[in-house]
Amino acid sequence: MHSSPLRIGPYELRNRVFVAPMAGVTDRPFRQLCKRLGAGYAVSEMAASNPRLWASVKTSRRTNHDGEMEPRAVQLAGADPAMMAEAARFNVDRGAQIIDINMGCPAKKVCNVAAGSALMADEPTAIAIVEAVASAVAGVPITVKIRTGPTPSQRNAVRLARDFERAGAAMIAVHGRTRACAFGGHAEYETIAAVKAAVTIPIVANGDIDTPQKAREVLMRTGADAVMIGRAAQGRPWIFREITHYLATGELLAAPCADEIRSVLREHLLDHYQFHGEASGVRSVRKHVNWYLCDRAGAQPFLARFHTLETPEAQLDAVDRFFELPVPPAVIDIDAANDKSYRQAESA
Ligand SMILES: Cc1cc2nc3c(=O)[nH]c(=O)nc-3n(C[C@H](O)[C@H](O)[C@H](O)COP(=O)(O)O)c2cc1C
Repeated sequence: MHSSPLRIGPYELRNRVFVAPMAGVTDRPFRQLCKRLGAGYAVSEMAASNPRLWASVKTSRRTNHDGEMEPRAVQLAGADPAMMAEAARFNVDRGAQIIDINMGCPAKKVCNVAAGSALMADEPTAIAIVEAVASAVAGVPITVKIRTGPTPSQRNAVRLARDFERAGAAMIAVHGRTRACAFGGHAEYETIAAVKAAVTIPIVANGDIDTPQKAREVLMRTGADAVMIGRAAQGRPWIFREITHYLATGELLAAPCADEIRSVLREHLLDHYQFHGEASGVRSVRKHVNWYLCDRAGAQPFLARFHTLETPEAQLDAVDRFFELPVPPAVIDIDAANDKSYRQAESA
């Protein structure tokens, strides 16, 4: 489809299948895993532009890229051009190689301060932010993530994309919904195709891409330079190799076997505990385990009890037993696993 590699500024990407930024999901361990399993590019979860929050545990984790495969891209959320410029400088000093600006997130927490997708309804401020950030970190590529507009009757993505290109943006990702649509209905790709036709910088198509075939169809329909996958990668980080393989060969890869899923999940769990610390890691990893296992036979009773486990050892042990036992997972004795790990912790 596209034979030459895609570049963002000086960075040549491995392929054209990206991980979408998802707050609370695409932390460094998950991004790294997606990249290892085939994603060509990943942007961090959004980090606050407000300097008062930079030292917070949450923002520091979101801006931590130690050991991450290059290029390292940080997404910033905020509504004040000067503050966004300052935040961009701060992140570039800490190793960010690309700065992404969030104009796509409809979350109340973000939109109440007129940031995220609310910025699309305030075009002068949106453009001022891209200009301010681009001139604050000259030489560092700036990208923007947008929706198609504030509401279905005000789809201004094409006009804004032209303005952002003029303001110095190096790439734009477009989620095919308006802010008002939140996550409802279906993503539409006509606006993304119109954005692609209106600018010369690379355009990334995003929204509801959940299979290799859908990725191909969206690329064909929009003419976009790349696709970006969000929710379909939750608990399925191997989707990136499935899509890249299909785009390259037209053939579908076999689904990963249970052994591989267990080994990917274990790797994810271990990296997650290391990154977040054991106490908070055992809680924050539960949603990931849910995503990996929820569709498997017998998962529901297993997960209900898994979510009561309080130590990494108990969680790892339970995951191993889920995959090892030939009996329905509902009968796995999670209480015994929990007791065992508590006893180990006590005697240590
Ligand atoms: C849990 C969650 C968190 C998200 N956080 C962000 C974010 O921090 N920044 C952003 O630009 N978009 C965020 N998004 C939007 C996604 O990047 C993406 O645009 C959206 O999920 C549509 O793609 P999909 O249909 O492939 O999931 C988030 C989405 C989800 C589901």
